[in-house]
Amino acid sequence: MKLSKSNVNHFQDYLCLMIGFLKKLFEKPDLTPADLSVLHTDIHSHLLFSIDDGSQSLDESIQLIEELMKFGYRRFITTPHIMGDFYRNSAETILPKLEVVRAELASRSIDVTIDAAAEYYLDFEFEDKLNKGEILTFGGNKLLFELSFINAPDNLDSAIFKMQTKGYQPILAHPERYLYWIGKWEKMEALRDRGVWFQINLLSIMGHYGGPCKKFAEDLIDRGWVELLGSDLHNMKHIETFNRAISDKYLKKALSLASVKNNQY
Ligand SMILES: [Fe+2]
Repeated sequence: MKLSKSNVNHFQDYLCLMIGFLKKLFEKPDLTPADLSVLHTDIHSHLLFSIDDGSQSLDESIQLIEELMKFGYRRFITTPHIMGDFYRNSAETILPKLEVVRAELASRSIDVTIDAAAEYYLDFEFEDKLNKGEILTFGGNKLLFELSFINAPDNLDSAIFKMQTKGYQPILAHPERYLYWIGKWEKMEALRDRGVWFQINLLSIMGHYGGPCKKFAEDLIDRGWVELLGSDLHNMKHIETFNRAISDKYLKKALSLASVKNNQY
């Protein structure tokens, strides 16, 4: 058979494709641990004890803080749940607990800064708190809120509008965990167009909540729709996930995003 120029070109294309495929197949994963010190500050966690479903004792609080520090964090803005009848928290329950944890850290000479805001569950009581101005924020006006995992609340749009008219910057906690929004990119884009920031959980990227949630987080990272990264750490089980998945490829990609603002706080 006579070899034409076009046959040679096709063969070269095929060869390149095969080499690329084989390279990918035998590529060793990069096992270097991600360095969370680039974030400096964790802005979502449950490190104050006996106040929500996070830490359950002073010792556990200190242990969790020390474990997180090993990954490079130097400051924590911890965010206890404030949720209807489940977690009736407010400045009155959160701030004294913060002082107890601070005093213990100082007595053990642990060099770290810890402050507190809150993670507000978006229910009608939340709108009431907004009206009264009883809101714990960080970075001046940054307000972390979460939604039901079952369906989007009816008052989502009105609550966002109210937060913004009161001068708060709404930050949606872990959008990737609301699986009812998978594939609903128009809905997500509409939230971003309205100025809502997205906070992705490191635990989601690490696969802690399962494959669909991880994939959703990865898609958000690919789109660059991430303003903040949070540990959302509650307990030592979460630390185990950190230890297991700290080399995750998408975690490293998330840390490299220019949109991520953790180190401003
Ligand atoms: Fe949380």
